[in-house]
Amino acid sequence: MDAYDVLVIGGGPAGYVAAIRAAQLGFRVACVDAFERGGKASLGGTCLNVGCIPSKALLDSSERFEMIRHDAAEHGIQVEGARLDLAKMLGRKESVVDKLTGGIAYLFKKNKVTSFHGLGRLVRQDEGGWVVDAAGTEVVARHVIVATGSSPRELPLAPFGGHVVENSGALAFEAVPGQLGIIGAGVIGVELGSVWRRLGAQVTILEALPGFLMAADEAVSKEALKQFQKQGLEFHFGVQITAVTPDESGVTVTYTEKEQEVTARFDKLIVSIGRVPNTAGLGAEAVGLELDERGFVKVDSHYRTNLPGVYAIGDVIGGAMLAHKAEEEGVALAETLAGQAGHVNYDVIPWVIYTSPEIAWAGLTEQQARDKGHTVKTGQFPFSANGRALGHGDPRGFVKVVADADTDRILGVHMVGPNVSELMGEVVAIMEFGGSAEDLARTVHAHPTLSEVVKEAALAVDKRALHL
Ligand code: FAD
Ligand code: NAI
Repeated sequence: MDAYDVLVIGGGPAGYVAAIRAAQLGFRVACVDAFERGGKASLGGTCLNVGCIPSKALLDSSERFEMIRHDAAEHGIQVEGARLDLAKMLGRKESVVDKLTGGIAYLFKKNKVTSFHGLGRLVRQDEGGWVVDAAGTEVVARHVIVATGSSPRELPLAPFGGHVVENSGALAFEAVPGQLGIIGAGVIGVELGSVWRRLGAQVTILEALPGFLMAADEAVSKEALKQFQKQGLEFHFGVQITAVTPDESGVTVTYTEKEQEVTARFDKLIVSIGRVPNTAGLGAEAVGLELDERGFVKVDSHYRTNLPGVYAIGDVIGGAMLAHKAEEEGVALAETLAGQAGHVNYDVIPWVIYTSPEIAWAGLTEQQARDKGHTVKTGQFPFSANGRALGHGDPRGFVKVVADADTDRILGVHMVGPNVSELMGEVVAIMEFGGSAEDLARTVHAHPTLSEVVKEAALAVDKRALHL
C-alpha cells in the first residue's frame, strides 16, 4: 500500500493549496478529487470550475457588452450593430477555466503531489496512519485533510433539474432567458442576475429576508440596491415561496408577499439560497467523524477533527464560504503540521461582490462595531468627487471607514463603487497591522487613482477630507 505523509481529500482552493504548501514543506503528499467537467477530471473544485472563475469571466464579458451598447456613446464612441454571440462568450469562459484548472494539475506535478481522480473515503485507522480509499486504491497517510467543500442548497419545493438550476446551470444557459427568476438575493443572486440582465433577460429576484444584503454595512447595501434597481433588476423582499411548478417550457413560482399571493412565470429559475457541506461519500459515519447539527465537519482552532490525524478546512467546516478563506486555512494547516505557527485572522477576511458597482468590505460594520461596545467614528467619501472615477465615467458609490473613536484603530472598511475589489488590498494590509484611520490618511496615494477615495474617507473620519 502506498504511504503518504499527507493525503488531501478534495482539490478545491482549500485542498489544492494545502497539498502544494505541504509538499513545499517537504511532506510526501497526495490529493484525491472527484470533480469532473465535461466528463474529465478537473482540479480546482467549485471555485475554478463552476464558481469564482467562470462567474467573473461572464461578469466581465457581460459588462463589456453593456458598456459597448449603453456607455460608449457618452465617451464619444458610436458603435452600431453590437450583438451577442453567447456561444462564443460561454466558450471564452470555459477556456479561462481550462487554463486555470490545467494550471493546478501543472502545480501538482511541479510540487510532486500525487493526484488521484475519484472519491476519497476514510476506511480505518492503522498503525501507519489512516487508510483511505483514494479513487479505488487503498493508500495510507499519517495526516488526512478533509477539504470536500460545499454544494448548492436545494429548496425542497424546487429540486434542481430542467429549468430549475443551481450555479453550474446558471453559468451555461444556451440562450438568454427572456424572464429569469432567482430565489435568494445573496451573492450568487446579484452576480448572476447581473450577468443575465446585461445580456438581455428580465430578472426578478425573490428574497425571504425583509432587506437586502443584511450582512453588509447598511449604507452600502442601501446604495447598492438603489443602483441595481436603477439597472432594472426587480427585487421582492420578505417573500415566502409556496409552490414551484416546472414544465417543459419554464417554471411557475407562487409566493406570498405582504400577505398577497403572487404567481410569476419564468423561462429559467436559479435557486441560490446558500450552500451545504459535502460529506456524503467520505465515510464520515462509518469512522465516526463528528459533524455539527448543520452537517459541517467539527474542528478546533487548529482544524483538528475528533479523529486523531484527521483535519478539515474550507467550506466543509463552515464560516465564510470564500475561496481565499479556504486557501488561507490550507496554508495554515500545512504549516501547523510542519510544526510552524499557521494562523488565519478571521477578523480581516475581505468580502467582494463583483457586480457593477462592486461591493467590498472587511471588518465590522458600523452597527456591529457599536453592538460590540466601541465608540465609533466614521468617514465617508464619494467617488463622484474623484477625478479618476469621473474620467472612467463611473462615479457611483463611496468608501466608508469605521474607526474606534478612542484609539482611531480601523474596525471596518466598506465600499460600493467602481473596481473596489482592487482597493481591498491596502485596506486588509493596514487592518492586519492594526492600523489607524490616521495611518491610512497619511499614506501617499497616487493621483489620479480610485484609491484616493480610500484615503479621503480615512481623512473624513477626522472631518478633514480635502476634496469635499
Ligand atoms: P470546493 O471548491 O467545493 O472543492 C471541494 C472539492 O472536493 C470539489 O472538487 C469536490 O468535487 C471534491 N470532493 C467532495 N467530496 C469528495 C470526496 N469524498 N472525495 C474526493 N473529492 C471530493 N468565493 C470567492 O472567494 N470569490 C468568488 O468570487 C466566489 N465566487 C463564487 C461563485 C459561485 C457561483 C459559487 C458557487 C461560489 C463562489 N465562491 C467564491 C465560493 C468558493 O467557490 C468556495 O468558497 C470555494 O470553492 C471553497 O473551496 P473548498 O476547497 O473548500 O471547496
Ligand atoms: P448567500 O448566502 O449569499 O445568499 C442566499 C440568500 O438566499 C440569502 O439572502 C437568504 O436570505 C436567501 N434565502 C434563503 N432561503 C430562502 C428561501 N427559501 N426563499 C428566498 N430566499 C431565501 O448564498 P448564495 O448566493 O447561494 O451563495 C453561496 C455562497 O457562495 C455565498 O454565501 C458565498 O460564500 C459564496 N459566493 C461568493 C461569491 C463572492 O465572493 N463574490 C460569489 C458567489 C458565491
